[in-house]
Amino acid sequence: MLDELNQLKDDALEQLAHIWDDATLEEWRVKFLGRNGALAEAMTKNGTLSKEERPAAGKLANETKLALESAFQAKIGAMKQRALFESLESEPLDVTLPGRPVKRGRLHPATSNLRELYRHWGDMGFQVFRSREVESDETNFQLLNIPPHHPARDNWSTFYIADTNQRVLLRTHTSPGQIRAMRELGQNGTQPIRVILPGMCYRYEQVSARYDIQFNQLEGLAIGRNITFADLKGTLTEFAHRMYGDRPVRFYGDHFPFTEPSAQMDVGCIICDGAGCAICKYTGYLEILGSGMVHPQVLRNGGYDPNEWSGFAFGMGTERVAMLKHRIEDIRYFWGNDLRFLEQF
Ligand code: DAH
Repeated sequence: MLDELNQLKDDALEQLAHIWDDATLEEWRVKFLGRNGALAEAMTKNGTLSKEERPAAGKLANETKLALESAFQAKIGAMKQRALFESLESEPLDVTLPGRPVKRGRLHPATSNLRELYRHWGDMGFQVFRSREVESDETNFQLLNIPPHHPARDNWSTFYIADTNQRVLLRTHTSPGQIRAMRELGQNGTQPIRVILPGMCYRYEQVSARYDIQFNQLEGLAIGRNITFADLKGTLTEFAHRMYGDRPVRFYGDHFPFTEPSAQMDVGCIICDGAGCAICKYTGYLEILGSGMVHPQVLRNGGYDPNEWSGFAFGMGTERVAMLKHRIEDIRYFWGNDLRFLEQF
């Protein structure tokens, strides 16, 4: 029995070595490995052996089977390789064939929108300052005059990452970047600053056409020795004109814990041109941003002496800017990754 199996294996491998076409390979498989093939037949003889002989014969039969199966697989691979080489030799590559066109990509509308904003603010002397997206409770809230349990926290539904004393969270707005910019660029409160701080913010919101859990904001910060509310109004009005053309703007009293006084800026509705429509809720104006004079305590937290230095700040949601411009009705389109939307920009 053992000799028979060894002989079978030698025969099978010897025959396999000469096979180079699919039909003969299949015949070989049926002949040796098939259900009624030589190996199966040899294995049935196991039953006729004595008890002592059986284990060794069974073991060898299994080994033979594995050896033949792996030789069969190796042969398939070798045949594929050979076919490839033959086709490369007999059908030379035609390098004059035109290539397949590669679809041209483009910037995501949120990105091109941000870049337009950078351009306007860059022209007005503001530099981009990138701040982190993962923040501490201290910088996101406390240093901006929002202590624990302050009711203003309700406005910023927060994703907390770690529930420790030094709570870690996804920034709910770009305003904590004000503190970081003052500390990094201010050189202990001795240097003026003019920066914009763009980037992704996160809030634990009920997702709807108007609110998503992630969105970009663009923050602005100007610190200097004689900055007044007139600078805030003039600069923001100039921005609105650059961005939206020659439209009326108006400032409204507002409240933010980190600015005093605070103001909301509206521009004449770009959909109805001030006549009144559903988008501007028939007021003729659209809210564009929040702003204000940097609170003295926030200046101190950034390393500045509020008796010598002052500044203004503002923050806007930038997807909203793009939505108004392109009349996009649902903020969820931005991160839905649907090409039918993205290809329109
Ligand atoms: N951080 C505010 C928000 O997310 C927006 C804001 C308001 C930023 C006033 C400012 C500011 O810098 O002065 O709602």
